[in-house]
Amino acid sequence: DKEGHRHFMAKEIHEQPEVIAHTISRYVDPSTKTVRLPNGVFDFAKLDRLTVTACGTAYYAGLVSKYWFEKWAKLPIEIDVASELRYRDVPWTKNGGALFISQSGETADTLAALRDARANGQQIATVVNVAESSIAREADIIFPMAAGPEIGVASTKAFTCQLVSLACIAIAAGRIRGTLTAEEESVLVTSLLEIPRLVSEALKQSDKIETIARDIAKATGIFYIGRGVSYPIALEGALKLKEISYIHAEGYAAGELKHGPIALIDENLPIVVIAPKDAHFEKTVSNMQEVMARDGKALMVSCKDGIAEAGGKTWAAIETPQTHPMLAPIVYTVPVQLLAYFTATTKGTDVDQPRNLAKSVTVE
Ligand code: F6R
Repeated sequence: DKEGHRHFMAKEIHEQPEVIAHTISRYVDPSTKTVRLPNGVFDFAKLDRLTVTACGTAYYAGLVSKYWFEKWAKLPIEIDVASELRYRDVPWTKNGGALFISQSGETADTLAALRDARANGQQIATVVNVAESSIAREADIIFPMAAGPEIGVASTKAFTCQLVSLACIAIAAGRIRGTLTAEEESVLVTSLLEIPRLVSEALKQSDKIETIARDIAKATGIFYIGRGVSYPIALEGALKLKEISYIHAEGYAAGELKHGPIALIDENLPIVVIAPKDAHFEKTVSNMQEVMARDGKALMVSCKDGIAEAGGKTWAAIETPQTHPMLAPIVYTVPVQLLAYFTATTKGTDVDQPRNLAKSVTVE
């Protein structure tokens, strides 16, 4: 049941405030502003390395978590796609933990990587949406996420719920390792509790994004750039667009643009700049200006202040609510999802069943 939406993808995008709130409630005690983890989780105090493995969109959730585990838990962390990790000679550590992220819990490469990590003595945990899946069954520890069934082939609400789970795990890991103070935890939890409302706020830009998408639909290529925690969101935006609109899209770390891809910039190439107001804002804006100096069409995604400060000469801008800078990816995912969705509907593609793709990839 699409509940009045044209596609499951639209329904699932709009469900995010609710399912994100559910996922938060699985971890957060709002009265004490602390994160609780299920019993029997990794001994974070002893963990010497965390290896995070996933495919596709779930891999991008893992990439965001790298910034969180490093900053809050000072935990050495390695992240790779399952189809690569499996075939590398990973020097597994003695007290290593391996975390697998999957919506379906049936992705063949992720499952095979899990078995490999187990054979190498790692403790196995998963952030998985489908509770009765193979990956859930084979893991020692299940970190909950509460996205509910995801029908649209392109993952949306599962991604933001994965981000919420991972943020909570990283916060708790920081507390346990003594690298995050109670005060810092409380600030983060307070910001986390505001996320559902901010995601609802971000969804209100739908009409504006639909208008912008009419132009994007004419493009033959599009770039997405971001720095820090916004870099994986650039990758996710590009993946979502190519999956359902079939337009060639690439995501780059903003600082990498000038090391090659900038050669492709001209007046026909839109570039989506994910630029929340954080420590990287000025640098990202200067990358955006380099693009504009070469006649690239910059589409700035930032908060009100960010757009007021740097959005003046851009081709277009999408206002996105300001949040805690480290948690911005959860909110900034919404505009890139909507942009992909409306670009696809403008082109008239089969949004929920894009060509060549399956909801769960059970072949290696
Ligand atoms: C993208 C998408 C895929 C999946 C990937 C992993 O929109 O849906 O990239 O994220 O196939 O799937 P799961 O999370 O089920 O392991």
